[in-house]
Amino acid sequence: MMLEVKDLSASYVLPEGEIRAVDDVSFSVDEGEILGIAGESGCGKSTLAFSISFLFPPPLRHVGGSVLFNGKDLKNFNDRELRKEILGTKISYVPQSSMNSLNPTRRVKDIAFDIFRAHMDISEKEMYERAKERLDLLSLPESVLNMYSVELSGGMKQRVVIALSTLLGPELLIADEPTSALDVSSQRIVLKELKKLFKDGVFKSMIIISHELIILKHLAHRIAIMYAGELVEVGETERIFKEPLHPYTKALIGSVLEPGKRVEREKIPSLPGAPPDLREKITWCRFYDRCPFADEKCKRKQELVERDGRLVRCERGKDI
Ligand SMILES: Nc1ncnc2c1ncn2[C@@H]1O[C@H](COP(=O)(O)OP(=O)(O)O)[C@@H](O)[C@H]1O
Ligand SMILES: [Mg+2]
Repeated sequence: MMLEVKDLSASYVLPEGEIRAVDDVSFSVDEGEILGIAGESGCGKSTLAFSISFLFPPPLRHVGGSVLFNGKDLKNFNDRELRKEILGTKISYVPQSSMNSLNPTRRVKDIAFDIFRAHMDISEKEMYERAKERLDLLSLPESVLNMYSVELSGGMKQRVVIALSTLLGPELLIADEPTSALDVSSQRIVLKELKKLFKDGVFKSMIIISHELIILKHLAHRIAIMYAGELVEVGETERIFKEPLHPYTKALIGSVLEPGKRVEREKIPSLPGAPPDLREKITWCRFYDRCPFADEKCKRKQELVERDGRLVRCERGKDI
């Protein structure tokens, strides 16, 4: 097992209260596997992705649980060691909207050189060659190396960000909403390129995050569904789509498959209401208020249990 996340909890601790954005989350990623994480905007996907790197800049705080990478507990590394020994080289995290935070005053090649310099001692010529090769893998011409980010289209910027994030050959790539700011044709290109990099062995495993479940359908081997800081279902992609067990998974898939209706960004049309406030400490089913099948029995804690090779908190979506 490459990555093992165990009972991980993280909160934003603010003067007005604690926002538990990741609550008791457990999952794993094998070598050679692509895991998708899906859920509505605000459910904690980005916080989870970020927490995997085990850096908790305030107001984010580690509340409990652990992250093991190839058996090593990241708790035992301080921030400097994490940056030096793990991040970029073993785990590379591509933050949401990172394509818009490329330094506008530097050329692509200078950004690439900085990344190399922080981790290895090679000549500029070697750095240039390696950067050129990686751009080429992403179907970007050499000329991009001399460009500034303003000269690049959205789709190209996102591919540049992916190229830069994979320069050091990480084992695990975490891509947070890599396509959400792009038009449909650029989305398709970026997904295709990510798949190609995976097949070429540029990285061994990937976690890809999206609020649109459909994005993950043809890429992820397994999918984890997140709701209000918790995982509600984890299973093989095909089975999740064919036979969703949790009512929330069912609703997400229903919204995707609704004929003739394109899913609106950040919104699930077939699902009225909104998730609970993450400041509230809800000990029973968090989907209770929006679930069409909820009854008194749901007012108690729903554990994530194994069913037929899948992890799920509730199976009432199955028969309906
Ligand atoms: N820097 C921050 N400070 C305080 N609250 C935050 C911060 N970033 C995110 N949050 C809150 O944490 C929750 C989860 O956010 P996030 O992880 O970004 O969700 P997602 O990626 O699924 O949209 C949300 O309620 C959001 O408002
Ligand atoms: Mg996010």
